[in-house]
Amino acid sequence: MEKRDELYAGKAKSVFTTDDPDKLVIVFRNDTSAFDGKKKEALDRKGAVNNQFNAAIMEALRKEGIPTHFEKRLSATESLVKRLTMIPVECVVRNIAAGSIVRRLGVEEGKQLNPPTFEMFLKDDALGDPMINEYHVRSFGWAEPEQIETMKALTFKVNEVLKKLFLDGDMLLVDYKLEFGVYKGEVILGDEFSPDGCRLWDRNTREKMDKDRFRQGLGNVVEAYEEVGHRLGMSFEY
Ligand code: TMP
Ligand code: ASP
Repeated sequence: MEKRDELYAGKAKSVFTTDDPDKLVIVFRNDTSAFDGKKKEALDRKGAVNNQFNAAIMEALRKEGIPTHFEKRLSATESLVKRLTMIPVECVVRNIAAGSIVRRLGVEEGKQLNPPTFEMFLKDDALGDPMINEYHVRSFGWAEPEQIETMKALTFKVNEVLKKLFLDGDMLLVDYKLEFGVYKGEVILGDEFSPDGCRLWDRNTREKMDKDRFRQGLGNVVEAYEEVGHRLGMSFEY
C-alpha cells in the first residue's frame, strides 16, 4: 500500500489517497479545535493518542458487529480506512446532559437522560453545525429514510457497547458524535471515535476527561486522554 496525495485536510485530521482507489490513509494531527474552529491549538502527542485510541475502539466495535471503515493502524499517527461517500450529518447520543443541550433546553448539567436522546447536526462549520431533523436530511437529499434508520440504530448500538466498556474503566460515557458514510451501498461508521468527539467523566469524581478540558481551558488535555486509554488497558507509542 502506497500513500499518495493529500485529498483533504480537516481541523484535526488529514486524508490521503493510496494506490488502492477503495482505501484512504488518515493522519491524526496534534491540531485541536473547538467552537467550529474558532479556538485552535496544537497539543503534543494528541495525534498519536487519538489514532491509537480510535484503532482500539473501532476494533472493539467491529467485534460487536458494527461495520466500520477502519482497516488497520499503519504508524503512531496514521491508519488505513475504506473510502466512503460521507453523509454530512453528525449523529449525537446523550446519556447525561452536558454541552449544547444544557444551553438549548435549560437543563442542569449532569441530569440523566432516560431514554438517551438522539440528535442530528448538519456538518457545516460556517453555519455552526445547526441541529436538523430527519425531514431536513430527506428533503435536502443528504440520506435516504432507510439510511437514516441505519445510522440511528448503529449509533444506539455503539452506545450499548461503549457505555459498558468505559464503565469497566470507571468512566461515564456522557455523549458522543458519530459520522457515517456509504461503502458499496452499505451505511458504515466512518470518521473517528476519540476523546475529541465525546464526553467522558470519571465515574466517582465526575472530573472531565475529554475535549471539554480544551474547550473550558482546564489544562492537561492530552494527559486526560492518555488516562482514559490507560484505564481501558491501552498503551501508546509516540
Ligand atoms: P454538543 O454538546 O456541543 O452538541 O456536542 C455533543 C457531543 O458531540 C460532544 O461529545 C461533542 C461532539 N461533537 C463533536 O465532536 N463535533 C461537533 O461538531 C459536534 C456538534 C459535536
Ligand atoms: N470539533 C468542532 C470544532 O472544532 C466542535 C467542537 O468539538 O467543539 O469546532
